[in-house]
Amino acid sequence: MTSSTSATPPGEPVADEANRGERARQVLIRNDRGGYTVPSPGLYPFQWNWDSAVTALGWMTFDEPRAWRELDRLFEGQWDNGMVPHIIFHVQADTYFPGPAEWGAEGGNHSPTSSISQPPLAATMVRMMSERARDGALADREVTRLLPHLLAWHRWWFRDRDPDKTGLVVTFHPWESGLDNSPAWDAPLAAVPPTTRAYARRDTGFVDAARRPRQADYDRYVYLMDFFRQAKFDPARLYAECPYRVADFGLNAILLRATEDLAELCRRYGELGGAEEMSVAAGRSRQALDDLWSEKLGAYVSRDTRAGRLLEARTLSTFLAWYGRMAESTEVDRQLLTGLNEWTARTPHGLASTHPDAPEFDPQRYWRGPAWPHMNWLIARGLADAGHREEAAALHKATRSLIANGGFREYFNPMTGEGYGGGDFSWTAAVALFWCAAESSS
Ligand code: DGY
Repeated sequence: MTSSTSATPPGEPVADEANRGERARQVLIRNDRGGYTVPSPGLYPFQWNWDSAVTALGWMTFDEPRAWRELDRLFEGQWDNGMVPHIIFHVQADTYFPGPAEWGAEGGNHSPTSSISQPPLAATMVRMMSERARDGALADREVTRLLPHLLAWHRWWFRDRDPDKTGLVVTFHPWESGLDNSPAWDAPLAAVPPTTRAYARRDTGFVDAARRPRQADYDRYVYLMDFFRQAKFDPARLYAECPYRVADFGLNAILLRATEDLAELCRRYGELGGAEEMSVAAGRSRQALDDLWSEKLGAYVSRDTRAGRLLEARTLSTFLAWYGRMAESTEVDRQLLTGLNEWTARTPHGLASTHPDAPEFDPQRYWRGPAWPHMNWLIARGLADAGHREEAAALHKATRSLIANGGFREYFNPMTGEGYGGGDFSWTAAVALFWCAAESSS
């Protein structure tokens, strides 16, 4: 192995710009398990849903067939009802808890999986990939193949997670938001009983426990997983009885953009019924998302639909409004922009996932404070689309420097820039390839 192909030890800076792209490509190649990419060896040894969507864009910069394959393999886990689970267990591995037997979702026509989903980035990534593709014929074949799967997934969200047609889909587990232990979920999670059964976490064998969710959170994560299995994943029963039921602003904003992108793909590929159906669904979401505005915070927030109250926590999800193309009112745009500038001025290293003045802010603990490269990108993408080039460029610069100084880590301390969590992290390497390597921020 040459130095450029050797593993980057967790936290080793990749300051040498010329070499950074090659290092990032090698991270993806090392994490390739045969058409899918593990997020980080050991800590996350399977295929994760939203990780794969971001990682596919990284592959797209140097191996287009492999990029499309990432999504093909993700949909191998799709359930008959359309749900695309958050983990696809393509192989056995004992370094992760909870594994397939715990979820109890084996069987059916799909690979073993978890029983919950994750933010639906895929349709937007498919649109971006098709627009960036150099091999147009391959892209056309792949989009045509993927469209029915994407439509089935979006229909599942709108049918099973919004049976009352409110325009907002709900999550039944904090992991579905992707922002697992965000302070926004503290209140609804407190209503979930802690499990009383024994189980052994594996994550803290890889990452300092102070940088992972707390044990009390895990006790509730496990309770919910067991509840889904015991309810035989019956959507009506889950909607009626799950003790955790949250309309997550971030997930709904991601779904909105993805649904509009899916409608556009359907139009381009002659699937006119799907285009119309997705446009109607997106219109309903766009209207309902307005109800998640908190006058108190001057920000979008999530709603606990079980308790019937807004979750007024100061988390970075509000800035996904631009990604969802929602900040079209000048007043909302102005308030969000003021909020973003004030937020980023408080931390020298990127966008903290929780506002640094919030009492729950913890710069080390996973989604309670650290900066995340892919979130920086999603938010910058939205900012650039809305014409806020300066703010997008600032996030671009901050992310480049996080990776240059902290390595291909999972997340970073926004006060010091120190990298934490899994090393050799796939979506960080992907972001380095498709975004940080570019001159422009969009
Ligand atoms: C984990 O295990 O920490 C994941 O984030 C859950 O998807």
